[in-house]
Amino acid sequence: MRGPHLSSASVRIAIVAMLSALSGVSHGAARALVVGDPVRVTRSEMLLFQGKNLAGAAKGQEFTLLKHDPAKKQVFVSFMKDDGTLVAATLPDEAVEPAVVRATSVLVRGVEAFRDQRYDEAKRLLTRAALDKQQAALAGALFTRVNGAFGSASLARTSPAAKQAATTTLQTLRDTAEGLAKAGMTRLALALDEGTDRLGAQVPGLTIPPTKVDRADLTKRAAISQRETMLARQSFALKQLVAASKHVAAGLEAEPAHDELKAMQPLVQKDLEEADTLCKTAKKMQRQPNGAVHALSAIDDGLKLCTDHTDLRELRKTLAAAFEEKTSPQVTPAFVSIAKAGTSAPMLEEGRKLYTVRCTECHDLEMLDGRTLTSLSGMVGSMSRRAGLSDAEKARILDYIAAAKTVVDAGGAK
Ligand code: HEC
Repeated sequence: MRGPHLSSASVRIAIVAMLSALSGVSHGAARALVVGDPVRVTRSEMLLFQGKNLAGAAKGQEFTLLKHDPAKKQVFVSFMKDDGTLVAATLPDEAVEPAVVRATSVLVRGVEAFRDQRYDEAKRLLTRAALDKQQAALAGALFTRVNGAFGSASLARTSPAAKQAATTTLQTLRDTAEGLAKAGMTRLALALDEGTDRLGAQVPGLTIPPTKVDRADLTKRAAISQRETMLARQSFALKQLVAASKHVAAGLEAEPAHDELKAMQPLVQKDLEEADTLCKTAKKMQRQPNGAVHALSAIDDGLKLCTDHTDLRELRKTLAAAFEEKTSPQVTPAFVSIAKAGTSAPMLEEGRKLYTVRCTECHDLEMLDGRTLTSLSGMVGSMSRRAGLSDAEKARILDYIAAAKTVVDAGGAK
């Protein structure tokens, strides 16, 4: 990514100005929550909107802070709903902490403050962005140009002789916006170009140079970039990587130089590839005799990485059904008639419930056709202490297992 051209001398002057402006600012109060900055959720929490549950927030998920209400001990953060609408959701303030602030987002906020004619805020944010080594050159150049344009426009308001100079500085802003757009920095380009109009309009009779960017296109792209970034963050935090990867791609198409999305892309890709590999492993295991248990554990590992992996979810559904048929078939009329058990259906059902709940606390169930009944009964005997079973519960399980093994050995009750 190449930023617009700037002379190194002007950068240096700007940076010196910024550093002196900053002296006296304390960096110690890192715990304070700053409006506009990102906050990170420190435990899994529920986002509320108008007092009602809105969505779960994962530990580590980040949101932009809109407001902190210490009296009510809550923070308002921006959240994008699935339909693309933006809402102010609340969280307990004790469940968030300040997150690392990206210099590029401070840079965008700075130029957006310029657009909104909050010039002091613009200078403050651009100064802050310039503290970052990688953003220093661009932030410094923008600071210098924005500041120069603001100064010459102020002068031109009282002195007609200064109008030509003001037009020249606005032209510089137009050129810069064009450079930013070409470098793929959509939101910066748009905000700077819009801010140029507004600044120029403050000086009656000033010739405002025409824009050099496609404003309609930039407006559309900036909106897409903002929306897709929020959705990408949200789905990434919830490990919905298939969705995250789509949002990242759409966001980068709208804003190719979006550094947060560029940083997120390889992370999403890496976990997606790992989930794909686990999916392949599961499919291979599934085809092997008694491979279902291994297939299931590969599927679970894969779904832990990527909760919206279509193939893994499908495979789990298929396998779960097949797995259940072999480990703990349901007590249906067909089951009862094949098992010819001396135990009533409700008792068998109770045994099944105990077996599927209490014996799965530490591991998966075994395939009933993989062992003799004697061996299975012996296992229940030795495991019942671990499972904390009463003699009556143990008897229920043994009855169920005996009946279920008959059914499984007979090829199932379907
Ligand atoms: C508190 C945890 C726990 C519970 C509850 C539990 N198991 Fe186990 N089970 C284990 C562990 C650990 C092993 C691994 C090896 C061992 O210690 O025998 C195991 C192994 C097994 C094995 C394989 C043993 C072998 O030799 O291959 C079977 C079968 C088994 N358990 C059945 C059951 C049944 C049936 C129940 C319910 C009555 C049950 N388990 C409940 C912890 C548990």
